[in-house]
Amino acid sequence: MAAIATLGRLFDKHNTLTRFRKVSGSFQRLFSGATHRENEDELGDSTVAASYFDRSGSTQERVKENGILPFSAFLTDSFGRRHNYLRMSLTEKCNLRCQYCMPEEGVKLTPRAQLLTTSEILTLARLFIQEGVDKIRLTGGEPLIRPDVVDIIAELRKLEGLKTIAITTNGMSLAKLLPKLKDAGLDLINISLDSLVPAKFEFIVRRKGFHKVMEGIDKAIEMGYNPVKVNCVVMRGLNEDELLDFVALTEKKPLEVRFIEYMPFDGNKWNFKKMVSYQEMLDCIRQQWPNLELLQSGHTDTAKIYKVQGFKGQLGFITSMSDHFCGSCNRLRITADGNLKVCLFGNSEVSLRDVLRSGASEEELLQIIGAAVRRKKKQHAGMFSISQMKNRPMILIGGSFWNTIKCVNCASYKCISI
Ligand SMILES: C[S@@+](CC[C@H](N)C(=O)[O-])C[C@H]1O[C@@H](n2cnc3c(N)ncnc32)[C@H](O)[C@@H]1O
Ligand code: SF4
Repeated sequence: MAAIATLGRLFDKHNTLTRFRKVSGSFQRLFSGATHRENEDELGDSTVAASYFDRSGSTQERVKENGILPFSAFLTDSFGRRHNYLRMSLTEKCNLRCQYCMPEEGVKLTPRAQLLTTSEILTLARLFIQEGVDKIRLTGGEPLIRPDVVDIIAELRKLEGLKTIAITTNGMSLAKLLPKLKDAGLDLINISLDSLVPAKFEFIVRRKGFHKVMEGIDKAIEMGYNPVKVNCVVMRGLNEDELLDFVALTEKKPLEVRFIEYMPFDGNKWNFKKMVSYQEMLDCIRQQWPNLELLQSGHTDTAKIYKVQGFKGQLGFITSMSDHFCGSCNRLRITADGNLKVCLFGNSEVSLRDVLRSGASEEELLQIIGAAVRRKKKQHAGMFSISQMKNRPMILIGGSFWNTIKCVNCASYKCISI
């Protein structure tokens, strides 16, 4: 390649980060000192917010190649956790009203002008990928109701360095959209489904649509997604009696049914008694299938993965409440209105939208992101603090599960017998 210009990052003596371009063995300062206008001109882009960073090859990759810095300092927190997984909420809107996620009366939506535009979403995605993010999950609200979701995926797919594009969806329009989503480059799908009984499904999500979701799951299997992940929030008195039916689904289908401990958010009327713990679920399933086998999972995986021997699919447990996984957390989140959240249960947020719209340079944006990441706490305070804490309703955050919860009985962060 003609332009073997390598973008590296070096610490200067004041310990601030400075950006250099390496050309034929010598370093040139690329951004420092340049105005926003100059940066735009240099990169040949006239749009205000988008594409400062549109150039071939990711910084991350080249930095790695040159051995200058193994992972972006901006995305590494003070406990050494490297954040290579970004969850981006595409919308606050949803066509369902799940009891555990949003208050019955709905949520006050952010005015459209304050939501990230497509161009801003892609600009932020590029920046994070450049710094080392290699997996992006699109979430919401319901991401599939965003009209340009296919285009967003297609644009993300073009970004060098991004290995995985995933989506978490309620599945309502999946069957219809999946061929286009797949063509655009969607790699992984999680579909939410909390009951296999149509009437109960409708009660939980406060809308009709069970058959559409099932159709979406079948379509994903038919189109070769393997495993197709099914997210099931388990709530006492609602669907915990369906655990075994969900496990039975994995006998013939390449599904990973993920049982999620019910988590507290503003307005979802969480109550400790409604939560069914991982250990309790496991005990229940083991009574029916004693040969349930624990599979090895990756360091940053949030799910504990099991398989009933001989079954095609597998099971996952998201144990956010009873056995946290903060120590290996590699996730960051951007809300639909452009706030960076470094922890699902932390209420500190920084508006990347405002920084972008102020015409800040890439360097300034990175400094702000880096400062937020460095402020990320080692772990969360505990389940009761979370249940009393002011936080956005889940629908305004975008779902995911990583937090630190203390066992209520022994105060240990590792005990699972709550
Ligand atoms: C907020 S939703 C957004 C994506 C999409 N609308 C969906 O439902 O899959 C993402 C995930 O968060 C989960 N979720 C929402 N509220 C939850 C809660 N209180 N406890 C546990 N999981 C929750 C949902 O089940 C879903 O799998
Ligand atoms: S969990 Fe997903 S589908 Fe259900 S209300 Fe929340 S955003 Fe909508």
